[in-house]
Amino acid sequence: MALAGARVVLGVSGSIAAYKAAEVVRALGRAGAEVQPVMTAAATRFIPALTLSTLAGREALVELFPEGDRGAADPGAAAGAWTKHVELGLWADAVVVAPATAQTLASLAHGFCDSLLAAVVLSARCPVMVAPAMDHDMWLHPATQRNVERLRQDGVTVVEPASGPLASGLVGQGRLPEPDDLVAEIDRWLGEARARTGALAGTTVLVTAGPTREAVDPVRFLSNGSTGTMGFEIAAAAARRGAAVTLLAGPVALPTPPGVERVDVVTADDLLREALAHADADLVVAAAAVADYAPADPSDRKVAKTDGDLTLHLRRTPDVLAALGAQKRAGQTLVGFALETHDGEAHARAKLARKHLDWIALNAASTPGEGFGTGTNRLTLLAADGRRVEIPTASKRTVAEAFLDAVAP
Ligand code: CTP
Repeated sequence: MALAGARVVLGVSGSIAAYKAAEVVRALGRAGAEVQPVMTAAATRFIPALTLSTLAGREALVELFPEGDRGAADPGAAAGAWTKHVELGLWADAVVVAPATAQTLASLAHGFCDSLLAAVVLSARCPVMVAPAMDHDMWLHPATQRNVERLRQDGVTVVEPASGPLASGLVGQGRLPEPDDLVAEIDRWLGEARARTGALAGTTVLVTAGPTREAVDPVRFLSNGSTGTMGFEIAAAAARRGAAVTLLAGPVALPTPPGVERVDVVTADDLLREALAHADADLVVAAAAVADYAPADPSDRKVAKTDGDLTLHLRRTPDVLAALGAQKRAGQTLVGFALETHDGEAHARAKLARKHLDWIALNAASTPGEGFGTGTNRLTLLAADGRRVEIPTASKRTVAEAFLDAVAP
């Protein structure tokens, strides 16, 4: 049980489902967790703070500025009290917001610090989970869905609301899961999060990501639609696990993930040069969509159009991953990507063997929700030793975590 001895901040916001928070506190207690309830002011309209304080054996906290009416007139009384959110953020092994209202999701998604609960989430160094509960239409509203997606991108785990009768009288998705189910989910999630932390400390990881650009003339180039997202998410996930990560990035519009050493490249030749300079990494993930051909003789002046057609003579670019495979050292793990439109698995297996890889990640370009330019992905991982791992459709961040769970040394 991951929850045994764990310190959990239970955030409660103002949904009718707040009454279930009492049962959640008790179930967390039964699982051995220490629970600190933090409520929004709206939550106290649905359930008294005294109820949660009594069940948790700790005062349920509500106010960001707990000095109340006295304010600055009695600064001594408030000294240290307003920094409670920072203390709680450091104290907690997990922050779980259940129920999370549309309002609280919006505030967390945008980083507002308008309540003690929001301040604790902003200060938290531990994993954060939200369990939304609201009316069906509020849940499905594009604004709510956008906020949920933002939170996912920030690494927050979102528990899908359950379906059933809602307090509004409507029937649909929007219910807080039953407390015992929710606590089982929290236990599983916390166990996974613990296993990942520091799992790659002391290892070096090299990731290639994004497209390359091969010049036709000073203003035109050959390239492809890769956005680099999958590679950037893998680099970010490896850094979160404590690895020293170098990210070789083609031209993409993405911020550098925290803790990652980024080297920008443009052409396949640049990528080869930088990859060979970092070729001793323990884990190499080649997620870049490298152009296989480049104009053999790029013009140094802009090519003006004529009435006739234009023929470009293309040369093969270096295969970066094959070059790394050819000089692979013992103990090194090499992973390639394959984007196929047909006979995916056979082609991917052939690449796995030809480039001396340990794993190849196959995504099918023709399936909606996968591959270039989408927020989600689905991968089939094939190993040289015959193993096969399916990673179901999820945000690229979630897929990156599962990818590392499978391939990391
Ligand atoms: N790769 C590379 N250098 C290249 C081409 C590809 O490092 N010049 C890497 C990619 O990052 C990816 C894998 O090799 O990990 C893709 O293999 P590849 O055989 O090049 O596949 P595609 O070019 O996608 O497909 P095909 O060979 O079928 O055209």
